[in-house]
Amino acid sequence: MSVRKAVFPVAGFGTRFLPATKSVPKEMMTVVDKPLLQYAVEEAQSAGIEQFIFVTSPYKSAIADHLGASSELEKFLSDGGNASLLASVRGCQLPSNAAHFLVQEKPLGLGHAVWCARKVVGDEPFAIILPDDLVLADIPCLSQMVAAHEKTGGNMVAVVDVPREDTKRYGVLAPGEARGGLVEINGLVEKPNPKEAPSQLAIIGRYILQAEIFKQLGEQKYDVNGEIQLTDAMCALIGGGPFNGFKFEGKRYDCGDKIGLLEANIAYGLSRDELRNDVAAVVLRAADALKSD
Ligand code: G1P
Repeated sequence: MSVRKAVFPVAGFGTRFLPATKSVPKEMMTVVDKPLLQYAVEEAQSAGIEQFIFVTSPYKSAIADHLGASSELEKFLSDGGNASLLASVRGCQLPSNAAHFLVQEKPLGLGHAVWCARKVVGDEPFAIILPDDLVLADIPCLSQMVAAHEKTGGNMVAVVDVPREDTKRYGVLAPGEARGGLVEINGLVEKPNPKEAPSQLAIIGRYILQAEIFKQLGEQKYDVNGEIQLTDAMCALIGGGPFNGFKFEGKRYDCGDKIGLLEANIAYGLSRDELRNDVAAVVLRAADALKSD
């Protein structure tokens, strides 16, 4: 069955970016000239996603605003004959029958956020995109996964190799057999201590899961921090059908982290023909200034 729906968990307070995120949702932080949210939506659109499910909080109206119509702004741009800006503003808009906004009442973790989407997802495989993981790639990461998933079926998570000391920030695989870009998953551990991590293969924010995950999430098993972890629920699906880690082509930027967001801005700037030379000059000037300090 094809993957038609994607869940975007976007309810967090984004405390790592305070005070920027006091009134601006983390997902609205920009990389060059687009918010993280929009990169995530565009990646889903390229992968053939038709229904977009945002699990948000009552304090984050900017998310729905960005994806909705903006008649005043559109009129202003249209009256001024600014066709390209008008197209860029209209390009952010999702049809109202394709966008679903659900409220996660309490911050009970990623697993709980995904569980909130169960009724809209129904009984079909679906994608999850965490917008603060940005992947710069010739073929968008989720498109690569959907193509691989058409062959494997089952459950799939995108994975990257991380330094051992970083395993405590990720869900980490106990890997089985590897074939091409696929790694069979024998176990998963959420944020293991580097000494106990079963590998250095970490999950990043792209998943394709079967709807049976909702049954596991519904059992509401809280971790030591009082959160329901997606990784824990996924563990219960191992052995019940194909479950693969997918090593995608491309470079992932952790935009949930200040340095990661800055690096993404430089990398995405360099990837744009019209900006490349100017961005390169700025980076070189900054490096020169450091040398002369
Ligand atoms: C979440 C997941 C973790 C995953 C990570 C990817 O953690 O719980 O398994 O590796 O996203 O970004 P968070 O970053 O929300 O702490």
